[in-house]
Amino acid sequence: MTSQKARKEMTIEQESAVVVVVGAGPSGLATSACLKTLSIPHILLEREDCFASIWKKYAYDRLHLHLVKRFCELPHMHFPSDYPEYVPRDKFLRYLDDYVARFGIEPAYGRSVESAAYDEGAGKWRVNARDVGSGEVEEYLCRFLVVATGETSDPFVPEVEGIEGFAGKVIHSTLYKNGKEFNGSRVLVVGSGNSGMEIALDLADHGARTSIIVRSPVHVLSRKMANLGLRLMKYFPLHVVDSLLVLLSKLVYGDMSKYGLRRPAEGPFFMKKQYGKYPFIDVGTCQKIKSGEIQVLPALKRVEGNVVEFEDGKSHPFDAVIFCTGFKRSTSKWLKGDDYLLNKDGVAKPSYPNHWKGKKGLYCVGLARSGLYGSASDAQNVADDIQSQL
Ligand SMILES: Cc1cc2nc3c(=O)[nH]c(=O)nc-3n(C[C@H](O)[C@H](O)[C@H](O)COP(=O)(O)OP(=O)(O)OC[C@H]3O[C@@H](n4cnc5c(N)ncnc54)[C@H](O)[C@@H]3O)c2cc1C
Ligand SMILES: *[C@@H]1O[C@H](CO)[C@@H](O)[C@H](O)[C@H]1NC(C)=O
Repeated sequence: MTSQKARKEMTIEQESAVVVVVGAGPSGLATSACLKTLSIPHILLEREDCFASIWKKYAYDRLHLHLVKRFCELPHMHFPSDYPEYVPRDKFLRYLDDYVARFGIEPAYGRSVESAAYDEGAGKWRVNARDVGSGEVEEYLCRFLVVATGETSDPFVPEVEGIEGFAGKVIHSTLYKNGKEFNGSRVLVVGSGNSGMEIALDLADHGARTSIIVRSPVHVLSRKMANLGLRLMKYFPLHVVDSLLVLLSKLVYGDMSKYGLRRPAEGPFFMKKQYGKYPFIDVGTCQKIKSGEIQVLPALKRVEGNVVEFEDGKSHPFDAVIFCTGFKRSTSKWLKGDDYLLNKDGVAKPSYPNHWKGKKGLYCVGLARSGLYGSASDAQNVADDIQSQL
């Protein structure tokens, strides 16, 4: 037993590469395409058995890109012209399939990166990846390391007293597909980011008796407002855009506080930039909140059996709980000796527009809270910068 275990811990293979890219989501694919275009050899490591796993395996059916398509294209390839302004998930996946085929991108699947450290002597990064299938560790030596592991790498579920005794279904949003099985059920959605709000809408559409917990104040914008805001950011200072968006939101949605949705004192783009808190992009949830089809509840206190107790002292029974409580990044667990590029929370530390470049050949793509638009420009910048050093 011991010897077998020891063998598994051993590094069995060593490979050299100019560039190692970690993560084959849209950011990693974009990076690979840009490197390919410049004929720079690289290895793309992905822990899952497919690319863009968050879109393929861990997203709900009705998901659409929230931003108009021109803000969501990857480098060197447009969306087909017959695609709708807001691209649905299946069409986005088809675009990614074509993208991978067009550039001949070949991720090494089932490779989970467990450590990466700069070797001063060799002047290279040592990247250790575990083969998820065999359990064996491979080592890659590379001059440049690109972290493209995403802002949503690990589902996060908060601790809730008594949840283990809850008899109904309890899942994270990444495992929610659609509301079919919840028709007639009392479902509690915990968390009011974009996933939570849209999943609540989907549940209500499928006939579930839906409640959503909204703890903190949140901006509500329509898709049109959000896209207008993005466009105006090119020409106006942030506070001007924010004032306009708040005004529009007030005009269209009115005062939502009587339904439990309070508007924050700070503006939507400011809050995204400052705290990474995204505004809520409404695709129909607000209407259902106003009509009472979706009930807004305050913070959760504890669970007892299938009864959930809330901060306001009230209790309600539920049949299912869906945690839309977001993600944590685990980069700080495996990326060693980086005190410059990524913070403890795994997002870019240097400020825009220099957030993608670290020291000693370290880069990040898609970790500056700028969505696919940011991934595309980061990928291009990183590939160009690597080329300039070769
Ligand atoms: C529900 C939802 C809707 C969104 N809608 C939009 C939108 O409309 N417009 C927009 O611009 N953005 C949107 N985003 C944000 C963002 O653009 C997407 O999350 C996008 O998938 C980010 O791409 P990425 O490659 O940076 O990260 P990911 O897609 O998360 O890819 C990262 C990859 O890295 C892999 N990985 C992680 N850790 C390791 C490791 N240690 N070793 C090996 N591989 C690893 C993961 O398995 C994953 O495949 C949305 C996000 C979510 C969750
Ligand atoms: C939910 O179930 C009821 C009764 O079985 C049915 O009449 C109704 O159409 C269903 N609703 C949806 C949205 O599927």
